[in-house]
Amino acid sequence: TKNGYPHFMLKEIFEQPKALRETINRMVHEDNIGFENILSREELEKINKVYIVACGTAYHAGLQGKYALNKISKLEANVEVASEFRYNDPFIDERTLAIFVSQSGETLDTLEAMKEAKSKGAMTIAITNVVGSSISREAHKVIYTMAGPEIAVASTKAYTTQMIILYLLAIYIGKNRNTLSKKDLNHYLNIINEIPNKIEQELKNKEEILTISKLLVDKNNGFYIGRGLDYQTALEGSLKMKEITYIHTEAFPSGELKHGSIALIENGTPVIVLATQKELIDKSISNIKELKARGAFVITIGFDNENLRAVSDKFIPVENIDNIFSGFISIIPLQLLAYYTSIGKNIDVDKPRNLAKSVTVE
Ligand code: F6R
Repeated sequence: TKNGYPHFMLKEIFEQPKALRETINRMVHEDNIGFENILSREELEKINKVYIVACGTAYHAGLQGKYALNKISKLEANVEVASEFRYNDPFIDERTLAIFVSQSGETLDTLEAMKEAKSKGAMTIAITNVVGSSISREAHKVIYTMAGPEIAVASTKAYTTQMIILYLLAIYIGKNRNTLSKKDLNHYLNIINEIPNKIEQELKNKEEILTISKLLVDKNNGFYIGRGLDYQTALEGSLKMKEITYIHTEAFPSGELKHGSIALIENGTPVIVLATQKELIDKSISNIKELKARGAFVITIGFDNENLRAVSDKFIPVENIDNIFSGFISIIPLQLLAYYTSIGKNIDVDKPRNLAKSVTVE
């Protein structure tokens, strides 16, 4: 049931603090992360490379996970779209850890990619929300996201729980390969424990986002831009908007826009700027100025900052958090913005056209 919410999507957006808390409580006990049965010390010593493979929103969670593995565990990580994985001749052997992320656990491309990785000797881990699903059965090891059933076609709570597992895995790997100091370990775990509360705070902005969504319902196209981790979040924000509002949006790395696509900016073209990476704020401000000079309507999502506010048409402040973890926080307004824009356009938000909850064809 929708538990008093008008749609499953809104219910699931609001369930994120609880889903994350449950996932964290199940895995983390003081400074211990319960992945001993998933990856032993010996297995970790053997591994020299990670592949994360998934589709759609789960792929976007994988992009954030790659960032966490690189930054936190200092391990080479690659992310691939499952349907392309097999054609890219991935360099896989017995020393490769291959992680497959799938809410439903039934996505055929992801399942086939897993079979391929297994046949080349990789150790495989599934991250999935559905117990007993095909992908969970095929993998050597399984980690379940504790998101609860996700009914809305547009994935929300599955995404953030997939991300938290990937971050915990990165911290666990860093700890056990001694690439993470005790101090950083505690620092990161403290942040992880705070994420559900911060998302709760974020959800309180919903009225403001509803108001901003009214400015988007008549638009036919738009852009999402960001640098670093913000670009990965932009990709997911853009996908949410496309699938439930049918507005054509594209995400770009902020610095790449001027290499061609800026030609599409006209008077009133909405550009959603993600600016949560503190050391990149000045660069974001100059990107916003370039866009404004060409008529763009700029909505900025970032840590509260006077200068950012001053250059933007609309500003949605987000809770302060260590840069490495900002993707958990900045996605919340993007999910709400897509949701309210869809409602404003009278679209069946839980069942948008042409889409199914799990994709079992290649
Ligand atoms: C987008 C969405 C899809 C899925 C993708 C993978 O909101 O839901 O992009 O993320 O089809 O599905 P799973 O995770 O079930 O493999």
